[in-house]
Amino acid sequence: MVSTSHLFDPNLLGDDLKADLPQGYVIRPLSQDDFSKGYVDLLSTLTTVGDVTEESFNATFQAMRRSNIYYITVIEDTAAERVVASGSLICELKFIHSCGKVGHVEDVVVAKDQQGKKLGATIIKQLMVLSQNLECYKTILDCSEANAPFYKKCGMIEKGVQMAIYFDKDGSNGADKKTSTSESSKETADEVITKGINGVKL
Ligand SMILES: CC(C)(COP(=O)(O)OP(=O)(O)OC[C@H]1O[C@@H](n2cnc3c(N)ncnc32)[C@H](O)[C@@H]1OP(=O)(O)O)[C@@H](O)C(=O)NCCC(=O)NCCS
Repeated sequence: MVSTSHLFDPNLLGDDLKADLPQGYVIRPLSQDDFSKGYVDLLSTLTTVGDVTEESFNATFQAMRRSNIYYITVIEDTAAERVVASGSLICELKFIHSCGKVGHVEDVVVAKDQQGKKLGATIIKQLMVLSQNLECYKTILDCSEANAPFYKKCGMIEKGVQMAIYFDKDGSNGADKKTSTSESSKETADEVITKGINGVKL
């Protein structure tokens, strides 16, 4: 029986990488309790997080859990009861490649005071194990040039070109903007579920 507090079944994570972690650190699925273990603070190392209350965190967590495509994996320093690293795998269902699946890696982050301890590499390796356990035929990600050497050290190769378009609240686009100013993050998870994403009901 899978705990409802976990985002996904922990059995999907292999045991092999646990030895790579410093003593007292565990790797596991994101849990709803992680709001109180500094998860939102950790994400702020990566980018602007905005206003995320415990209520909106829980609603989004449950929406992700129901959709069954989110595999956010975290490392916790159990002595400090603090989440110190995270990476997201989103498993996309496709018709091509015989109804195959593609993994998308997003939001890889290690707390500033924990960088350089191979936690980032362990998260990436774990997301690759997960991708294979989920039978993805490939897993891809976008990153800055500055971070490309890190992903290459994790065994990934450069492929293709990254494209982006950013949308403002009024529906206009700001193709020249470097960061998103989308207000869609202010929608509640229930609104997202009702509307779906790009017309696809969750
Ligand atoms: C990028 C990041 C995830 C790396 O995590 P980390 O735990 O510090 O990295 P690791 O200790 O696992 O490093 C693994 C290897 O990659 C190298 N490495 C890490 N970051 C690197 C970088 N930016 N450029 C070049 N090499 C890098 C390390 O030196 C190490 O090399 P080694 O195996 O030869 O010793 C982390 O620095 C981070 O969270 N940065 C801020 C957020 C961010 O930019 N996220 C990525 C979004 S695409």
